[in-house]
Amino acid sequence: MSWNTLTVVALLGQYASAQNMLRFGCSQLTIERADPLVSPGMNPAPHTHQIIGGNSFNLTMEPAVYDPPSLSTCTTCTYAEDFSNYWTASLYFRSPENGTFQRVPQFANFGLQQDGGMTVYYMPYSAKNGKMTAFKPGFRMIAGDPTNKQDVYKPSICHRCLGNGEGFAPCDAKDTSELPTKYCPGGIRATIIFPSCWDGVNLDSPDHKSHVAYSNGGGLGTPNCPSTHPVSIPQVMYEVMWDTGKYSNTAWYGSGKQPFVYSFGDSYVPPPPFPPYSLPIQRFD
Ligand SMILES: *[C@@H]1O[C@H](CO)[C@@H](O)[C@H](O)[C@H]1NC(C)=O
Ligand SMILES: *[C@@H]1O[C@H](CO)[C@@H](O)[C@H](O)[C@H]1NC(C)=O
Repeated sequence: MSWNTLTVVALLGQYASAQNMLRFGCSQLTIERADPLVSPGMNPAPHTHQIIGGNSFNLTMEPAVYDPPSLSTCTTCTYAEDFSNYWTASLYFRSPENGTFQRVPQFANFGLQQDGGMTVYYMPYSAKNGKMTAFKPGFRMIAGDPTNKQDVYKPSICHRCLGNGEGFAPCDAKDTSELPTKYCPGGIRATIIFPSCWDGVNLDSPDHKSHVAYSNGGGLGTPNCPSTHPVSIPQVMYEVMWDTGKYSNTAWYGSGKQPFVYSFGDSYVPPPPFPPYSLPIQRFD
């Protein structure tokens, strides 16, 4: 079985409007073994991430002190005002024949122009009490947990096998928690929905998630926040379009198997050697 809980991170700016849905493409900023949230300063970090957003992304980004929106001068996101950083694990094809790894690139989402990267949404749900609080400078959070598969799977993290005329609603009956076990000619869409409730105090927490909580048991919807996390924050969602179309050998799929692994997990084997983390940010494939 392959491991496929995503660890996804957002370092967010005070950007979102509660009234309108924002959907925008962000090209790749870099793909690096860097994780300023979970392994600050570690070079290289334990696994690769694909990272988008503001150009101040760095190995160490201390809450409140290092705030991308105030330190970046440009962004890979289509909204030039959004200097947040967002990242997820990378996806690899692990050859069933010879065990070698190939990084699976991302492609642009429907109707968007972007080079790699992912699509970011700020969902428009109004808070139950009509109040929505913008992210404070330095705010960050994580969704998913590489050590706990059950953590926030569907309805908050899911995968869709594209290319068979499926619809688009995120994490519905067509989506699976695990990576699809059949060939997906149109790629695999990973959806990651972040918590929408905050404790109102902490910009971060030791596990990077206990300062936030899901409402309504996860997924999308009008925030119905628990009393421990009473403050409604904008609901962030990512879509990552993994370009799996060329991995078409049907022998690689079926009966619970498929050839993809995220860049970490219980079946994790380090991916091919990567250049050391390099500043300023460099793109490489
Ligand atoms: C990243 O941090 C290093 C030292 O911690 C600093 O020299 C460098 O300017 C920072 N880069 C950016 C893009 O802020
Ligand atoms: C390993 O197998 C994959 C297909 O599974 C192929 O694309 C790749 O070229 C092979 N690599 C080597 C080193 O044989």
